[in-house]
Amino acid sequence: MHKIVSEISQHTGEEVELKGWCYNFRSSGKIFFLQFRDGSGTVQVVYSKAELPSEQWDLLDQLRLESSVIVRGVVKAEPRSPNGFELTGTFFQPIQIAQEGYPIGKKEHGPDFLLDNRHLWLRAESQWAVMRVRDRIITSTFEWFHENGFIKFDTPILTPTSCEGTTDLFQMDYFSDEQEGSPNDQVSGSKAYLAQSGQLYLEAGIMSLGRAFDFGPVFRAEKSKTRRHLTEFWMMDAEAAFVEHEGNMVIQEALICRIVEDVLKHCQAELKVLGRDTAPLQKVKAPFVHFTHAEAIAKLRANGSDIGDMDDLGADDETWLTQQYETPIFVEKYPAAVKAFYMKRDPQDETRVLNNDLLAPEGYGEIIGGSQREDDYETLVQRLAEHNLDPKPFDWYLDLRRYGSVPHSGFGYGLERIVAWTCGLHHVRETIPFPRMINRITP
Ligand code: 4AD
Ligand code: MG
Repeated sequence: MHKIVSEISQHTGEEVELKGWCYNFRSSGKIFFLQFRDGSGTVQVVYSKAELPSEQWDLLDQLRLESSVIVRGVVKAEPRSPNGFELTGTFFQPIQIAQEGYPIGKKEHGPDFLLDNRHLWLRAESQWAVMRVRDRIITSTFEWFHENGFIKFDTPILTPTSCEGTTDLFQMDYFSDEQEGSPNDQVSGSKAYLAQSGQLYLEAGIMSLGRAFDFGPVFRAEKSKTRRHLTEFWMMDAEAAFVEHEGNMVIQEALICRIVEDVLKHCQAELKVLGRDTAPLQKVKAPFVHFTHAEAIAKLRANGSDIGDMDDLGADDETWLTQQYETPIFVEKYPAAVKAFYMKRDPQDETRVLNNDLLAPEGYGEIIGGSQREDDYETLVQRLAEHNLDPKPFDWYLDLRRYGSVPHSGFGYGLERIVAWTCGLHHVRETIPFPRMINRITP
């Protein structure tokens, strides 16, 4: 049975067989250096013309970048190699010699070219590293929630309503008005929307399960090109009964600390490939900094911004604020006017809501949006009206306030923003296997 690169340290001095791809090579005419990768890692295989059967040496001579290959060699400790080992090649067999002209060379390519070739770019070591960090963050999220009494609850993607306002909804035809069915069918007209967040459904889930989380793709028809926005991205929403505003932030802080701790523990090699300075990540420890929205505005103004008292924070505002502190920052109690209908008002100041955004350091900005939810039936009906939302398709949601309503809170994180931050990437487009943006839906 063949081995994988990540296991070869256990086989020093033995001959192993590996299956994978050739990501680079060079030859002196007598010695052939094959840079081999198999998904679990990379290793150099050194073949000597004098030692290898001549038919196999001839095949090496025909090798092209990204050919799929089977190699065998004796594992040898090599302190100069990144993972401490190399193979002294004993056998070489191509599976498929790649066609000429593999588009991605070792030279610099522009982002559009790389994104056009995303299906191949994913093989680059940097992208391999990003995908592995992404996987670690997902795994840590599931682990932390399960260790803390949250149940995974899958929320729908096709929905009859919006969750986060109507400006960036993806709308589609959903059968027709004349479809057969009982008059009680909840299909209001023929329109459906792709979910912007699973939150409202998760609120139903916790009235059964107490604490729950979802994790899945969500969709926003974002009209702007920014380094933080995708039109399809992965969100984790969490919700908990009997948790209020303060407790909601304690949960967020613990989750983010765990994610960062685990990335540092399990992804050192990946962060090194990415050239990520890990010192700022090591400083991500509880307690995080807290500001009210009003305090944040005052700080921005003192720094020369002309932001208004009741304005939402813009991306540049978040960038500047987070550059001033080493931990993530909770910004709490935003003006109700800039936030969603379901947020509970602050009893101390009815113009504000019991919400928080969590901003990641080093200029990354918002990674989480959360709030305590309005739990009073009459108030919620009034909020829907204030937001010009038709109450009919929200009737099921109002049932949660009719039957055994409780104080509850929740939040949602944007996975790609957390990956960008932990990996130290400028743009979220590299953090998802196949990014969808205003100007891109291929490959
Ligand atoms: O702040 P948002 O809009 O909050 C909600 O959707 C709530 N319903 C979540 C909840 O309370 N359960 O989105 C949550 C997070 C943001 O903080 C951000 O990290 C990310 O989702 N996000 C995006 N990420 C990439 N591209 C976009 N277009 C994003 N929009 C939001
Ligand atoms: Mg938000």
